[in-house]
Amino acid sequence: MILVTGGTGFIGSHTVVTLQEAGHEVVIIDNLSNSSASVVDSIQKITGKRPHFIEGDVCDRATLEGLFSRFSIEAVIHFAAYKAVGESVQKPLMYYHNNVGGLAALLEVMERHSVRSIVFSSSCTVYGEPDHSPVTEQTQRKDAASPYGNTKRICEDILRDVTATGSLGAIALRYFNPIGAHRSGLIGELPLGVPNNLVPYITQTAIGKRQQLTVHGNDYPTPDGTCIRDYIHVVDLAEAHLAALNRALTCAMDERYEVFNVGTGKGNSVLEAIHAFELTSDQKLNYRIGPRREGDITAIWAETTLAEQKLGWRNRLTILDAMRDAWNWEKAIAN
Ligand code: UD1
Repeated sequence: MILVTGGTGFIGSHTVVTLQEAGHEVVIIDNLSNSSASVVDSIQKITGKRPHFIEGDVCDRATLEGLFSRFSIEAVIHFAAYKAVGESVQKPLMYYHNNVGGLAALLEVMERHSVRSIVFSSSCTVYGEPDHSPVTEQTQRKDAASPYGNTKRICEDILRDVTATGSLGAIALRYFNPIGAHRSGLIGELPLGVPNNLVPYITQTAIGKRQQLTVHGNDYPTPDGTCIRDYIHVVDLAEAHLAALNRALTCAMDERYEVFNVGTGKGNSVLEAIHAFELTSDQKLNYRIGPRREGDITAIWAETTLAEQKLGWRNRLTILDAMRDAWNWEKAIAN
């Protein structure tokens, strides 16, 4: 049985689908702070199998104890965390408590129950503004620009320190920009309120929920002046978790703590992303160029050789696939 924390969230739900399709039994714990219990039904519709679901908080040790006593957990994939950069600046303690405290509680209970493998959701945010791209796993991490980013960095350090003693094996996956949705249109990203991220903003504008997309600056030192990111389809990302889990479970790890970039290795500008959307959806997007957004970095994309060599994983889907699926999902939830 694999425990997936945050398993009803955007990346978590796609990973549960991939795990179940690969034959794993899954139990989800999620406090539904940023997702809905109906996602469990959707996972069942896609896979024909209903994952176990516990509504609860990873910071709550008693709930975790109960869960680890009831199920025979082989490994944990830990997604449950807050992820809004701006909110983390306003409410840093909430972020440290939930993101750092949640991991600490989980690791303590795992240790008591002799569960020795964890795959952790990290982020390319730990690289800050890199001097050049692609960034490798050896590229130096920078001081985090937000409490959210700092929680990812601290959690990586906790895993490094805990795996240095004892028998835990941990793999941190540094995601670049996850986008897209499941091909079925049954699961996808469900931002609360006005989206901060580019792709939900694009699809909500196209469907008429938002009037216009603002491109945050076109005076960056990039070919078209807009920022460059490495957009990775969430289904590819889910498959990277399966590969990492298999590596941890089969004791194939070279070190007890390993880190992998999970991106496509290709950077796209904001304007290229918009054009990819226009191409797949066959419509013009209403957008304007606005000022820069505070805290944005100019350009980052991943070097993915390590994941290819060690995890046997690379992306199969493109930004066009991701835009098609994100649009399909937006249309599905509009009905
Ligand atoms: C952001 C977070 C990152 C987090 C990730 C989660 C920041 C600085 N970084 O990444 O830590 O892990 O979300 O998915 O907040 N854009 C527009 N108009 C919009 C929205 C976005 O032009 O309405 C541009 C942004 O300026 C950026 C690109 O689109 O250049 C991607 O933005 P976004 O989707 O918010 O992701 P990141 O900022 O890269």
